[in-house]
Amino acid sequence: MATYLVTGGAGFIGSNLVHELVRRGERVRILDNFSTGRRENLRGLDDKMEIIEGDLGEPAAVKKAVHGTDVILHHAALPSVARSIEDPTGTHAANATGTLNLLVAARASNVKHVVYASSSSVYGDSPVLPKEEGMRPEPKSPYAASKLAGEGYCLAFWKAYGLETVCLRYFNVFGPRQDPNSPYAAVIPNFITRMLQGEPPTIFGDGLQSRDFTYVEDVVEATLLAATVPAAAGQVLNIACGRQHTLWDLVRILNDVLGTETFPRLARPRSGDVRHSQAEVMKARALLGFRPRIDFEEGLRRTVLWIRASTSRPTGTGNDRPGIGETSEGSPAILIAEDDPMLTLVLHEYLDRFDFAVHTTDSHEEARRWLEEEGGLLLLDGSVFKQMGIPLADLPRRAVICSGDADLVEEARRLGMTAFCKGRLDDLGKTLRQIATEGPHIPSSAPIPLRRRAA
Ligand SMILES: NC(=O)c1ccc[n+]([C@@H]2O[C@H](COP(=O)([O-])OP(=O)(O)OC[C@H]3O[C@@H](n4cnc5c(N)ncnc54)[C@H](O)[C@@H]3O)[C@@H](O)[C@H]2O)c1
Repeated sequence: MATYLVTGGAGFIGSNLVHELVRRGERVRILDNFSTGRRENLRGLDDKMEIIEGDLGEPAAVKKAVHGTDVILHHAALPSVARSIEDPTGTHAANATGTLNLLVAARASNVKHVVYASSSSVYGDSPVLPKEEGMRPEPKSPYAASKLAGEGYCLAFWKAYGLETVCLRYFNVFGPRQDPNSPYAAVIPNFITRMLQGEPPTIFGDGLQSRDFTYVEDVVEATLLAATVPAAAGQVLNIACGRQHTLWDLVRILNDVLGTETFPRLARPRSGDVRHSQAEVMKARALLGFRPRIDFEEGLRRTVLWIRASTSRPTGTGNDRPGIGETSEGSPAILIAEDDPMLTLVLHEYLDRFDFAVHTTDSHEEARRWLEEEGGLLLLDGSVFKQMGIPLADLPRRAVICSGDADLVEEARRLGMTAFCKGRLDDLGKTLRQIATEGPHIPSSAPIPLRRRAA
């Protein structure tokens, strides 16, 4: 088992990486100064990883964070073009000098591998599409220049000292845990939030500018591949979907998903923004075996659900939510384990409409107790059972299996359990409608009777 350091682990992409590493059973430490990162992104992981609160500009904090780690996923940065236009020096300090400080510490501590989160912005406005890694970078904002400087240091440390570094140029990443409320919020969470509030989003320019929007789950997959493939050392790789969508496309699809007819407000173009962006992803495919799996529409649907759920979810750690014993009398109870956006969606979109007592937990221990007590219907990420070493056949009859692992779902169904693949929204919706109307498929007991809530 390797020890991973995720810098910027409380941020959007970093926290998605941390959740996945923990899910895979890896040892994880994060270094973050919480300037743009949020503690709630790491909810439920308190005892499963180590947090070092510190700045890339503080040598002692960086040294402490790097000590004893094998792989660094370097994601700490000030990521906004607009912010860099206002404060180029601050952006340089965090992104360029911060990267240099980290590499110096990594070398001194004999770290094996560093994955650097670079950015498509380094290509600038060259009209050639798609962007290939061999093209000459033409940064047009201090942010892009600082990310390119970080790449330069990574490649120099590979060539001068043999420190294995790989630079991944991410293209407009979006998905759960991206901050919708920051003054520098990225376009997708910004538009979704405004449209959910019934307000028009603002398009800077004519809206025909395009981006290669990439769902965060695909970025996490690519990053973890890059961390383990030795041939990636010394390389620069595009990580993207390989498609191109304009901001008008974005508004149209969001209107479809939300069932709205919002028309955007147009404003003057912003300095530093590039016009078009689309990636060639052949190199990442050849070197890492990376293939993006979530298309733009599906990614947007999931992001909308997450933003909806996270803005209406009660705050708290889970300990202040109702406990296992507090099921309402006569109602079937459901325990939703894992702080998973898809399961939160289940809670908000489907189960709330029926007469269930619903609890959520981030604790595997609580899930285990629930299992032992057979307190009610258990809706649980199947992979958690694997981590707990419990065979599917030993699960109580009322468990409903939800998993991203298609083989596991298949196995559960063979055993006669209700199971669905959480990666597929239509599958999930279909299964839950069935549970809600007929009760879960339980071979040796009567279905749980459900009553529709009074309107
Ligand atoms: N989101 C995108 O579309 C995108 C695209 C291309 C590249 N990237 C790169 O990916 C990385 C992560 O971006 P994100 O969108 O998750 O941003 P984010 O702002 O959500 O995360 C950045 C994290 O770094 C931390 N941080 C900032 N400065 C720090 C410092 N000096 N010391 C310690 N911690 C610090 C912040 O608190 C935050 O948790 C960044 O390097 C960014 O440049 C992001």
